[in-house]
Amino acid sequence: MDPSSAITTVIRARRTHKQFTGAPVSRLQLDDLLELASWAPTHRLSEPWRFAVLDQAAIARLGEYLRFEPEIAAVPDPAKGAAKLAKLLERLPSLGAMVQVTWMRAGDTAIDLEDHAAAAAAVQNLLLAATARGLGSFWSTSSALGHPKTLAWCGCDPHREGFLGSIWLGLPADAPPPPPRRPLTERVRWL
Ligand SMILES: Cc1cc2nc3c(=O)[nH]c(=O)nc-3n(C[C@H](O)[C@H](O)[C@H](O)COP(=O)(O)O)c2cc1C
Repeated sequence: MDPSSAITTVIRARRTHKQFTGAPVSRLQLDDLLELASWAPTHRLSEPWRFAVLDQAAIARLGEYLRFEPEIAAVPDPAKGAAKLAKLLERLPSLGAMVQVTWMRAGDTAIDLEDHAAAAAAVQNLLLAATARGLGSFWSTSSALGHPKTLAWCGCDPHREGFLGSIWLGLPADAPPPPPRRPLTERVRWL
């Protein structure tokens, strides 16, 4: 196949999936996805991304941790905490794996922005590689999953690492339609 047509297909096919079948994603598959993620562009070769990988057993342990630390889901809105936690606990068992993505914060603002961007590019690599392998993915910035206590539970250092997102992976249980994108003319200025 023409390689340019393969990448075009994958970029268009990637969708945010929130429903998974419960089938596991293997360590081999995850290694493959993360290796591809690390080919993202990175200024000064800082490779600022960090990945904390949770298999299904670890996701179950994280769910139990969150269940007994309800104040985590109560941030930022205590009134919505219980419902948010219940929804999260209902969804987690359907995932095949989860990758908590952080980037190492830089003291210099310009470098920190570059490193944040590089880590975001690594996430997109991961999402596209997952799509190409028939996996569904969801980039979540759930405040509970990005809470400093949750990050610390995952082995991250919340004082040195910023939360980029929680990447949910698994076999898709549905096929969400693509949310529309605006016409390019609204977003592009030709000079
Ligand atoms: C940085 C980032 C954070 C996101 N966080 C959430 C989230 O917390 N909850 C959610 O429902 N979707 C989240 N999304 C997914 C978007 O809602 C999704 O990309 C958008 O609806 C477009 O759909 P598509 O990904 O299928 O093209 C996030 C996307 C990005 C890039």
